[in-house]
Amino acid sequence: MGQITEIYNALLETTTYEWTETRHTVEEVAAWLGRQQESGRPVLVAVEVDEVVGWASYGDFRDSTRRPGYRFTIEHSIHVREGWWGHGIGRALMRGLAEHALGAGKRVMVAAVDGTNERSVAFHARLGFVEVARMPGVGEKWGQRLDLVLMQHDVGQLVASLAR
Ligand SMILES: CC(C)(COP(=O)(O)OP(=O)(O)OC[C@H]1O[C@@H](n2cnc3c(N)ncnc32)[C@H](O)[C@@H]1OP(=O)(O)O)[C@@H](O)C(=O)NCCC(=O)NCCS
Repeated sequence: MGQITEIYNALLETTTYEWTETRHTVEEVAAWLGRQQESGRPVLVAVEVDEVVGWASYGDFRDSTRRPGYRFTIEHSIHVREGWWGHGIGRALMRGLAEHALGAGKRVMVAAVDGTNERSVAFHARLGFVEVARMPGVGEKWGQRLDLVLMQHDVGQLVASLAR
């Protein structure tokens, strides 16, 4: 739990990737893990020796309880420890997530990426996600207006491409 929280917080004070200035707490992450478990949604971790080097999860894209029409679409989060970037951890986590999503009957995966996060945009594009929207100025951090980049992929196609 502590290591997931640490990775989650790592870039909070130096980048606008996460649109909050408040650090996540272990208690908050523990409560979220419980909710993910109850709802059958995955939280995957990548471990090297005894260190958690990344984690990934997915949830509703929009509220599918109130609007069930969204129930086949998910939005994911993925975070790899900086020292481990470029070692295939993100790809492996996405493979696990996509396989879980396919098994759960999901059809579309959406990445909602901060417009300054060129690394994440490049990573998702490399995996075949297509940029479908760039929403100017919908976010703000440290008084700076931020764009949101929405990228999407068909779940079945993603599983097939990551299995190759
Ligand atoms: C984005 C992130 C998850 C990528 O994870 P990673 O473990 O470094 O990615 P991988 O090493 O598995 O790379 C997978 C592919 O993406 C490509 N890729 C990754 N980063 C890239 C970059 N900055 N530019 C171009 N391509 C990139 C790799 O070349 C690789 O291609 P290949 O498998 O065909 O060789 C990681 O950088 C990260 O956690 N960033 C900070 C948190 C974040 O931004 N999360 C996403 C929020 S939407």
